[in-house]
Amino acid sequence: MKNRTSKALVTKKLLPKAMEYLENHIDFQVAGIDRYPTKDEIIDRIKDKQGLVSLLVDRIDKDIIQAAPDLKIIANCAVGYNNIDVSHATERGIWVTNTPGVLTNTTADLTWGLILSVARRIPQADRFTRNKKYKNWELDLFLGQDLEGKQLGIIGMGRIGKAVALRAQPFHLKIVYTDPIKLSPEEEQIHKASYLPLEDLLKTSDIITIHTTLNKETHHLISKKNIHMIKEQAILINVSRGQVVEEKALAQALKRRTLWAAGLDVYENEPEIEENLLSLDNAVLLPHIGSASIETRLKMSMMAVKNLVAVLSGKKPLNPVNQI
Ligand code: GLV
Repeated sequence: MKNRTSKALVTKKLLPKAMEYLENHIDFQVAGIDRYPTKDEIIDRIKDKQGLVSLLVDRIDKDIIQAAPDLKIIANCAVGYNNIDVSHATERGIWVTNTPGVLTNTTADLTWGLILSVARRIPQADRFTRNKKYKNWELDLFLGQDLEGKQLGIIGMGRIGKAVALRAQPFHLKIVYTDPIKLSPEEEQIHKASYLPLEDLLKTSDIITIHTTLNKETHHLISKKNIHMIKEQAILINVSRGQVVEEKALAQALKRRTLWAAGLDVYENEPEIEENLLSLDNAVLLPHIGSASIETRLKMSMMAVKNLVAVLSGKKPLNPVNQI
């Protein structure tokens, strides 16, 4: 049943099924049809709205929240919610929701795609072949690295970190992890992973993969202060948030070959990318597609709109990140 008294703003069109769900349940307006709306455009359109559906690139800050006196929910279509001023929303009694769980396996799959791409230099070899440079089989053509027997260091052992660990088992890697919350002995056993403090993980791992959330503690967790601790032959993978890694320090380490290679799905000033990285052959760069499968992006879109409609129908949200 359509709740005609509720009005929501969607920053940018979601997948068709989610738009259909909204049309059947609620009155809404889309702020940007084929582009993201500017902050001023959001402020202008949110004034009379009770709900907002945002995407991870929309910065939903205090100014935007203050512009909407009737706002009840911000439904983010992403698992990460560092783009939202959650503490201000909470102070105002506004629910913030995210899309946990549905993208765990998809993102862990992509992480493994990146690990293998970087270790075996697959995108570089593809470019070489397309450029008609493949003239002869050579014993030393595109030599990569084996995974077997190496140490995988997982930074952030939440849902995605654990799914990455489970996928590591057939590759016969030693798995270590770091996280503010140590796993129980049973969970360590299931994931065949042992705890190490960050510094020890950096110093001893051959493949380091980042799956932490972005917050004050994890901003520049890897920076010029500690990147030199990583082994020269190591690989660094980041599919979490760009600001967890100091991008300039990473580009420098890759350029100087004090780090063997990196695979990145996220960037510090997304979608801008450190110029040096773009020209480096030992970096594999993706456009933030960690959760980008047909099935998962649909589930995320549906979760966001269901959270919105639940709250605007007077119910509790399904996936709150704050408590009101
Ligand atoms: C993707 O990065 C997400 O947070 O869902």
